[in-house]
Amino acid sequence: MEIKKSEFIISAPRVSMCPKDDRLEYAFIGRSNVGKSSLINMLCNHKGLAKTSATPGKTLLINHFIINNEWYLVDLPGYGFAKRSKTVLKQLEQMIAGYILQRKQLANVFVLIDIRLDPQKIDREFIDWLGESNVPFAIVFTKADKLGPVKAKANAARWMTSLQDRWEELPPYFITSAEKRTGREELLDYIDEINKVMEQNK
Ligand code: GTP
Ligand code: MG
Repeated sequence: MEIKKSEFIISAPRVSMCPKDDRLEYAFIGRSNVGKSSLINMLCNHKGLAKTSATPGKTLLINHFIINNEWYLVDLPGYGFAKRSKTVLKQLEQMIAGYILQRKQLANVFVLIDIRLDPQKIDREFIDWLGESNVPFAIVFTKADKLGPVKAKANAARWMTSLQDRWEELPPYFITSAEKRTGREELLDYIDEINKVMEQNK
């Protein structure tokens, strides 16, 4: 799929303030600093579309970007950033859960995981919650450029295997690097396929 146009639409503090529009949405979530905003920019070939930062906690609202005037990419705030007050963490959690559970046009959630890390409790809890809530999702490993291709593949496979203690059917996964533009075609093809299936089932 070709991305011809990507435009910022709105930053919303809660789901009720997201665009009144029934076009499909694909949301990016994961720990603070994992590379959500960078991945969106890489997919869109649009530097600076989503705001990125080396300091965790840059994205604090639900950000909608419309692609080819046809569907949305949604940049969500990161979860699990420790340097925040309990009240702010609670508010962010409610914002994210509200959006994920209530947004009917949400076609797929991409859960981003830093490919260098061993499985972490916070990501696992989030993934288990998505599974329990029947939310369609895929896993996206980020920053693959920080490891060699062999190590990256092995780490991703090990991570996926760790889900088998609870989940029989594993979600699809992708190995990406915003830096090297790895995984771009695969992710866009995946989105394209869902768009087509949803269009047929309308
Ligand atoms: P929050 O909005 O704070 O939750 O963070 P985020 O998940 O949106 O992360 P962001 O895209 O802002 O990136 C965080 C940092 O990681 C930045 O310094 C990026 O340059 C860096 N980064 C993101 N993706 C990659 C990647 O693929 N490779 C490398 N080497 N660095 C990356
Ligand atoms: Mg961000």
